[in-house]
Amino acid sequence: MKNLIDKLKKEKILSREEYKALLENRNDETAEYLFAEAREVRHGVYGHDIYMRGLIEFTNYCKNDCYYCGIRKSSASSQRYRLTQEQLLDCCASGYALGFRTFVLQGGEDPYYTDERMTDIIRAIKAQYADCAVTLSIGEKSAETYQAYFDAGADRYLLRHETANNAHYKKLHPEAMSLANRKECLYNLKKIGFQVGCGFMVGSPHQTTDCIIDDLLFIKELDPHMVGIGPFIPHHDTLFKAEAAGTMELTLFLLGIIRLMLPSVLLPSTTALGTIHPQGREKGILAGANVVMPNLSPVGVRKKYMLYDNKICTGDEAAECVKCIQRRMEGIGYHTVVSRGDYKL
Ligand code: 5AD
Ligand code: FES
Repeated sequence: MKNLIDKLKKEKILSREEYKALLENRNDETAEYLFAEAREVRHGVYGHDIYMRGLIEFTNYCKNDCYYCGIRKSSASSQRYRLTQEQLLDCCASGYALGFRTFVLQGGEDPYYTDERMTDIIRAIKAQYADCAVTLSIGEKSAETYQAYFDAGADRYLLRHETANNAHYKKLHPEAMSLANRKECLYNLKKIGFQVGCGFMVGSPHQTTDCIIDDLLFIKELDPHMVGIGPFIPHHDTLFKAEAAGTMELTLFLLGIIRLMLPSVLLPSTTALGTIHPQGREKGILAGANVVMPNLSPVGVRKKYMLYDNKICTGDEAAECVKCIQRRMEGIGYHTVVSRGDYKL
């Protein structure tokens, strides 16, 4: 397997058969080798810096009904909330003081946030925090709407593709949603000029190794600036409540592969990874990730943004999370930096 890892490092791509061999024959030893190579590549581009993103979960209303998601439209247990523009700006103010220079506005697909409301928010943040990047993570919109966000000053957009396999996509989403549309959104975002992030859940129900290979091939084709992956974790109020969670082991292995495929990619060690294992986020960094996204949402709403069960950090103030993250990163020889943390070529 080491020869395949060497090949991936050198050529930054493998064939479908080679990915399959690498994934199916992986073991602890090949994983350690992969992680060491992934770290070397990561250190070459980003050194030991960790980029922090302040995540503001500003609405949990959603018009979609994705089968895996705890804030899906038909989740009766979800107590819905929206932050006002003033509350959002308060989050940015406390985040700025804590050293954040990227704000990630994430929410369900909430029609309340018309183009006008959304662009007002983006402009207000950019007017007050000109040295900060604004990242949006609010789902599928028309090319015109994406363009309006971009013109208002938004810098980056996260839209996980969730799975690049058509049949699998249909098993995770209702009829109204399609992989084709998701992909088109990602290509539109890129064309407009956003730094773009795609991604998928590891171990989502019905996922096979072939689905994962489709994800890797799609990621290579899209060539995004960011890739978000984390384990699937069941939520008690969804169709998938009795399904098994994804594993840390496979998530880490995929982080390593993605770092070798896209040396400059901005790759978060996600909250979901921290949820399935107490040292998950540290291990994610040591497998090749270089970004962490602590929560900046007001503590009063945190427990309401439950995409999956047992999500960590829902009772902690942002300042505590920042200190906790900094301590964790220093503990493994990395340091958080005060910077927008843009993509480096
Ligand atoms: N487990 C893990 N991740 C989830 N997401 C949504 N529901 C779950 C879940 N049950 C992820 C999706 C989405 C991102 C915001 O959170 O990939 O794109
Ligand atoms: Fe939130 Fe550790 S990062 S408490």
